[in-house]
Amino acid sequence: MISTKPIYLYKYLGLKRNKIPEVIRRLFYLSWEDALWDILDKKNVKKESVVLVPEFFCGDVEENIRNHGYKIKYYPVTKKLTTNSKQLLIIIKKVKPSVLIIFHSVGIKNKLLDISDWLKKIDKNLILIEDCVHRVIDPNRLKFLKRNHFIIDSLRKVVPLQGSVVYAQKNDINFFEPPMLQSFIYATSVTLLWLVMNIFWSLTQIFNQVKLSICLSNCSNYFMKVGYNLIGDSKKPARGFFLFNFLQQYLDIRKIKLVKRKQVEFYEKKLKFLPRSFFQKVYYDNNDKGELIAYPLILPIKIAHKIKRKIEGEGLLLDFELNDSKWSKKQKIIYLPLGLHISESQLGRISEIINQLGLSYS
Ligand SMILES: Cc1ncc(COP(=O)(O)O)c(C=O)c1O
Repeated sequence: MISTKPIYLYKYLGLKRNKIPEVIRRLFYLSWEDALWDILDKKNVKKESVVLVPEFFCGDVEENIRNHGYKIKYYPVTKKLTTNSKQLLIIIKKVKPSVLIIFHSVGIKNKLLDISDWLKKIDKNLILIEDCVHRVIDPNRLKFLKRNHFIIDSLRKVVPLQGSVVYAQKNDINFFEPPMLQSFIYATSVTLLWLVMNIFWSLTQIFNQVKLSICLSNCSNYFMKVGYNLIGDSKKPARGFFLFNFLQQYLDIRKIKLVKRKQVEFYEKKLKFLPRSFFQKVYYDNNDKGELIAYPLILPIKIAHKIKRKIEGEGLLLDFELNDSKWSKKQKIIYLPLGLHISESQLGRISEIINQLGLSYS
């Protein structure tokens, strides 16, 4: 069974500690959402304020934002996961958000942050959250575009660690993480669920017997979903576990990006002849290859479920990603796994499954 989630922590770690530039501060939280609650609180964002999110976003996170007393408004995202800056500006003027979330979907650099002219036309006090949950952040390549610009990741999605790092300019982070005992039971439950999920995924790699592997990965998925549902529910934010904070600083960022780049190129080569009317590509450029959480394929809504069932029938458990987003009502997206825990033969097997499906649709 191929683990779609990152496992085997030792493969992701290096011996050298990653330094961060002098002008930047970092804080460590239990999750992206815990970091967000703390920033909104410390920056005195009033309840009922508008948080502007992209249409390709996580429904559970949106619900948690509402439950924390804020309003959600959306800006459009095209089928190819891009947003027009003029359209965004019009919506900002209309809904007057206090917080704007710009998401690097699938890890692909969001072009809104390249064309930053629109940023000069918005309220200076607006809090900009750069959502990097699909990326492994290299702190030496961060760029801050305005005051109150916060960059947040979510480690468990891209490496085998639970937690989230916030990066910001020193004068924007004039606060510390919450005390360790704040929301302690919540934090411990999330960490334990993450640990159990990881153990089950690792066991699927040890046992070759198909039925047992499927059973173990279903258990892993169960604990993953319980954990995902719980994350962000706590009214008060929680800081991250100190050991994960320590290990995060030893991630071998260069190696992770290099391997991912090679794996993306492998998929590109093997999936060259997929019928593009059924398996649509998402546009990314050369620099994005090492940043992707996975190799994305967009499926037309009419046949998406059928394709997913067929992939599952071949023993590869893939979910529709961000399936509860507004964007996913019009099409679906699946992620072919990438990462240091995936071997070349597993990549080959995945490509074979997808190619066979492609043949049946061409
Ligand atoms: C796009 C996006 N942003 C933010 C989050 C929140 O991350 P976390 O679960 O670490 O709070 C998620 C969670 O799935 C997400 O999909």
